[in-house]
Amino acid sequence: MPEPAITVLDGYLALSRAAADVAAGILAAIPRARVVVATGRTPMGLYRELAARASRGVLDASGITVYQLDEYVGIPTDDWRSLLGWAVRSFVEPLGIPLGSVIPVPADGDPAACAAYDREVERSGGYDLAILGIGTNGHVGFNEPPSDASAPTRRVALSSASRRSNAAYWGGTPHVPREAVTIGIAGLLRSRTILLVASGKSKRGIVRRAVLGPVTPEVPASCLQAAPDLRVLVDRAAWDGSVPT
Ligand code: F6R
Repeated sequence: MPEPAITVLDGYLALSRAAADVAAGILAAIPRARVVVATGRTPMGLYRELAARASRGVLDASGITVYQLDEYVGIPTDDWRSLLGWAVRSFVEPLGIPLGSVIPVPADGDPAACAAYDREVERSGGYDLAILGIGTNGHVGFNEPPSDASAPTRRVALSSASRRSNAAYWGGTPHVPREAVTIGIAGLLRSRTILLVASGKSKRGIVRRAVLGPVTPEVPASCLQAAPDLRVLVDRAAWDGSVPT
């Protein structure tokens, strides 16, 4: 298995800038790149940094295709908590990417539509870049434990850990949707480069298990160790619990 490249940055700003350097390098080399875009708190600094570069004219992402990573089931796309809406607001619009270049996941999780989605990605050669965060339970996208390297794009039940960690957006855990649709780990492994970002002490431990521990469905992110080019960028709080000086 290829060795993951792990970079430990001093804090969130440095992490966001370093991650933007990686992403911008790939987007410059592949102007029509196919890019999987996570939402969540962690990549927002990275997206802001990319948007700042685009507005300074040093990054042109207008030709890329954006693939939504995951979505809650049963949420209208105009609900502010829709992950598609979040990706559009934080990544697509600020980078000047046409809305027509956004490929949503099959939001109702229809098995035939999910299988067709995976076949199409496979047929067109996979993704060029996947920008991912990691859940405190080791999920990537909404591939909850247990999920292994063969997991397809599918409808999933959200774990209680994931529902708890998203409670703030929904006014309490009971209001968080119970199901989601996610690109599967098998699809993510078809990405030429995976950029995994983690920040803060709540991720301490799980990131190490994901990148250095045994590959196990109990830590779905560990399956990414098989990716051809896995770049892991973490801040010190997420790596060893130390805080920047
Ligand atoms: C978001 C997603 C999730 C998050 C993960 C970490 O689209 O798929 O896997 O990346 O839950 O979330 P944050 O970054 O908020 O800690």
